Amino acid sequence: MQINTNKKNTIIVAHRGASYAAPENTIPSFELAFKEDADFIEGDFWLTKDNEIVCIHDSNTKRVSNEKIKVQSSTLSELKKLDVGIWKGDQYKGTTIPTIQEVFNIIPKNKGIYIEIKDDRKIFVEKLREIINQSKIQNEKIRIIAFNPNTVRLAKDILPEIKTYWLFEWYFSKKKCLKSLARRRLMQTLKTLNCDGIDVNAAPYIDEKLVKSLRENNLDFCAYDVDKVEDAIRLINLGIDSITTNSPLKMKEEIKKNNSRNIA
Ligand code: G3P
Ligand code: CA
Repeated sequence: MQINTNKKNTIIVAHRGASYAAPENTIPSFELAFKEDADFIEGDFWLTKDNEIVCIHDSNTKRVSNEKIKVQSSTLSELKKLDVGIWKGDQYKGTTIPTIQEVFNIIPKNKGIYIEIKDDRKIFVEKLREIINQSKIQNEKIRIIAFNPNTVRLAKDILPEIKTYWLFEWYFSKKKCLKSLARRRLMQTLKTLNCDGIDVNAAPYIDEKLVKSLRENNLDFCAYDVDKVEDAIRLINLGIDSITTNSPLKMKEEIKKNNSRNIA
């Protein structure tokens, strides 16, 4: 089959920053990612009790600090008291949970951000619109991603000018029937979302058939959890729009060594 390779270069996205080395979803992690030449960073976001958007993966702080408090029921100043860096190494002692504005402030001019909405409430998306409208980041340097299809719909409705992708967690099964079932479910849901594309895991499951269906529907396609260079190269040769990885520098260097097509 003929794959449409007439497209822009593949973007390398740093998953929770350079999270292989620095504490995920923190300013040191995002700074390291840009130092490692990531094109975009990816971060996870929730709304606090006092209506601030903060960057943290889980709904509570247990995994990354020595206290367990629920993000949605805490104020920004309560969350700022926690050390979310030391678990990754003494050099990160004193690192705090950043607000989304703090994250925006360290993004270099030609770089961008994948904002993963973990907080599925409408008030989150409304607050996000307010912050994006006040920020200097260009719309094309922002992508919104979410697992919940309703959140994807909501985001596209409230922020139509921002590219929004549905996150799809593929079944980890080698059985062919499950693979085609997953593909059918993915395409059926996508048609109802009015979004700009998908961001999927399980790179080995992304094949020409899927890419063809997506391109025929004018949709972008992206993959996350890509840490093996052979997966990245296969995806780049299929014309993928972005690859999200924990180790941006290693990935970029390996791709450049092994691949004939361009990355950003
Ligand atoms: O880039 C998408 C990816 O971040 C989704 O999974 O659990 O790491 O947020 P998770
Ligand atoms: Ca994420």
